[in-house]
Amino acid sequence: MKQLALIPLIFFALVSLAQPSDKSSDYLQSEFHAARREALRAKLPANSVAVFFSNPVRNRSNDVSYVYHQDPEFYYLTGHKEPHSVLLVFKEDQKVKGKKFNEIIFVREHDALMELYEGARIGPEGAKEKLNIAMAFEGSSFGSFNLDFSKFDKVLFYDFQNDVRDTDEEGDLFDLISQFKEKIGYNQTDLNIEPQANNLDVSLLDLYMTELREIKTEEELDLLKKAINISAIGQVEVMKAMKPGMSETEVQGMHEFIFKKYRAEYEGYPSIVGAGHNGCVLHYIDNYKPAIEDGELILMDLGAEYHGYTADVTRTIPVNGKFTKEQKLVYDIVYEAQQAAADTCKAGLPFYTLYDATAEVVNEGLVELGLYKSTDKKDIVNPETGRNRYYPHGCCHHIGLDVHDKGIYDKLEENMVITIEPGIYIPEGSPSDQKWWNIPVRIEDDYLVTKDGCVLLSNLAPRTSEEIEKTMAQPSVFSDYTLPSLD
Ligand code: GLY
Ligand code: MN
Ligand code: MN
Repeated sequence: MKQLALIPLIFFALVSLAQPSDKSSDYLQSEFHAARREALRAKLPANSVAVFFSNPVRNRSNDVSYVYHQDPEFYYLTGHKEPHSVLLVFKEDQKVKGKKFNEIIFVREHDALMELYEGARIGPEGAKEKLNIAMAFEGSSFGSFNLDFSKFDKVLFYDFQNDVRDTDEEGDLFDLISQFKEKIGYNQTDLNIEPQANNLDVSLLDLYMTELREIKTEEELDLLKKAINISAIGQVEVMKAMKPGMSETEVQGMHEFIFKKYRAEYEGYPSIVGAGHNGCVLHYIDNYKPAIEDGELILMDLGAEYHGYTADVTRTIPVNGKFTKEQKLVYDIVYEAQQAAADTCKAGLPFYTLYDATAEVVNEGLVELGLYKSTDKKDIVNPETGRNRYYPHGCCHHIGLDVHDKGIYDKLEENMVITIEPGIYIPEGSPSDQKWWNIPVRIEDDYLVTKDGCVLLSNLAPRTSEEIEKTMAQPSVFSDYTLPSLD
């Protein structure tokens, strides 16, 4: 806690503080999180403790914070959505004053004034009841909590970024981290140079949590499917509504309105809406173009986050509803590439086989169109970036609580949920005929890996060029949605 602190009233601290009774019934239940802690405990080495901190609150401007988003790992293990908390998971039962326990959580204490501005805090009693963690205390008691970390063979945690601000509150995240460092005798230099010199471990936890999180449970699959359906419906409705002259911002807003209409709380990542050459910027998030032009393609990569789980779906469509000859040729190659990987995908195969399947179709297709001389590396790789010139990214990643979810990326396994997202991007100035310039195409879908193949989860959004044109010809719910002009 800062010493000479006045208490600034954080007028717009956008901390997520839904009352438990406001929650919809399909939230993950405390039993899910307890089972995940148990699964982690089973992986921990003998005589060890794993320590997890909540995400920091980040300043946006003056006394306004960014919307708070819990650290996905902390959420996975607790369901707790508030900041300034620390969780300890012990391998074996511990005993204090005759009381046995194998996990403890420290959470924010009640504060009538802060709760007046930000809403109710769960507090230790709420943590016991709602999170189902019997040992729950206020953060301000962590420093004096009598726990000798030196008795453990291993203390596992993620190394610190040293980017957490001190606030006026006692027991805030800054205090919790400082006190933990003191308790364990933390010294970053020792940790890096002589990892064996003490009982501290900052690498194993990542492996254990990755092994857990890359395989989805039934409850997680339900939430992922919901997030994916919402995102796919967004794509369909925007296809129907799309017109030249709309702004990229407006298109983004239509998608995100649909996310909210279905009660998705957030976007899983900043929405990417790029027309023409903007679509060639892989993670373009400015979305500023005021008037999308007739004849352009628009690339829309968006994912709703529903109760923590995020989709990742991309569609590329012709703004005026009809692909040009060149656009369609490129689009259809990307579609074939995606389909080749989807046809290959099943449990047991190495992850890289998916990329290889897409790259083969893309590279051969671009040779046929005359955009590459041959499929030799020297004719494909752009020496300036070291990447393939027109397909410069990977094709697949896990999704879950993070859009690029944790994964080992060795073999595909049942109940992984992954994207397949090949693309071709031909920016202006490329060494090709100008008729290809400013064509960006990415098609990204979400798949459940099974024993025998993979299931397309984002099937509500049309994928072929023909289906897209048909959908774009349909009437839109946004047509009657007119607002007063500001001119
Ligand atoms: N939306 C980022 C990605 O597709 O990986
Ligand atoms: Mn993706
Ligand atoms: Mn994406």
